[in-house]
Amino acid sequence: MELLECGDEKKVIKYVDLFCGIGGFRLAVNQVSEGYNFKSICVFSSDIDGDAQTVYRENFGDLPEGDITKIPAEMIPHHHLLLAGFPCQPFSICGDLKGFEDTRGTLFFDIARILESKKPYTFVLENVKQLLVHQQGQTLNVIIKSLQKLGYYVNHKILNALDFGLPQKRERIFIVGCLDPIPFIWPNSTRPFKPLQEILETQVSSSYYASEQIRKNRLAKYEGKFYNEPTIWHENKAGHISAYPYSCAMRAGASYNYLLVNGERRLTEREMLRLQGFPDSFKLVGSYSASRKLVGNSVAIPCVSAVIRSLFDAVEKFKP
Ligand SMILES: C[S@@+](CC[C@H](N)C(=O)[O-])C[C@H]1O[C@@H](n2cnc3c(N)ncnc32)[C@H](O)[C@@H]1O
Repeated sequence: MELLECGDEKKVIKYVDLFCGIGGFRLAVNQVSEGYNFKSICVFSSDIDGDAQTVYRENFGDLPEGDITKIPAEMIPHHHLLLAGFPCQPFSICGDLKGFEDTRGTLFFDIARILESKKPYTFVLENVKQLLVHQQGQTLNVIIKSLQKLGYYVNHKILNALDFGLPQKRERIFIVGCLDPIPFIWPNSTRPFKPLQEILETQVSSSYYASEQIRKNRLAKYEGKFYNEPTIWHENKAGHISAYPYSCAMRAGASYNYLLVNGERRLTEREMLRLQGFPDSFKLVGSYSASRKLVGNSVAIPCVSAVIRSLFDAVEKFKP
């Protein structure tokens, strides 16, 4: 199996964590690897954001490298698995695809040039679900063709964190590739999701509570069904308010009162992390607004873990 190397004691899987943020992918691989009885080693990580680098170092001990566009592929160590939740800013890819060079100027290009140079056996990419329809599907098409031209068998699917045990509706596209035609099967839903009650803290400082004015305003605009508490109230772009016994996707750039617990207060940092499936041992450092951005940008850990588990199963089953 090309995914693994025999180390001194245990089999070893080496991986790189690109656009690593606070390390959601790393947590997921580490959790999954334990179940497989092999050692996973992160040999390289990179993120341009100083706040993300600080939190990553606090939790994993490594300081990620910076801007990936400035890092030559030769500087990146050999690895078996490449992980990248690349930024979701809209990007346009034009022209007939002659090769991934046509994606130059996008951060996907940097993923592709590293894949071309290092040829890891397998990869997992993640992005917002809108990638599926961006430029009528053209952008995704170009990405998949580029990956195929590099020799990878590629699968993609939209998965929702709600289906993997978290009370957060977070739909993301996952793209999985392998140099062999492994029998990859997307993971099944593990509903029901955890009740919000288990995520919410009981003692919350008054500083998290929205002003009386904001609370009245939310109540005035609310027209939906009243569920038994707790609920998360969500304001959409048009200003409509809805409430559900789960959270809508946390977003890095959303307004301060975009999500309110019971229409009254903002989520605490710990609650945000729990909504993404991070363990309570995970440490966040920095301001509240930096934490909102970092956690909103991160991944739903059980969802990523399920994808990685399916990938490892498929690699193990593959008989050349
Ligand atoms: C969607 S987030 C990924 C978050 C990550 N998966 C996690 O679990 O936290 C994208 C990340 O790409 C980083 N980024 C953007 N441009 C970059 C660049 N040129 N080089 C390295 N990282 C970059 C951002 O700072 C952000 O943390």
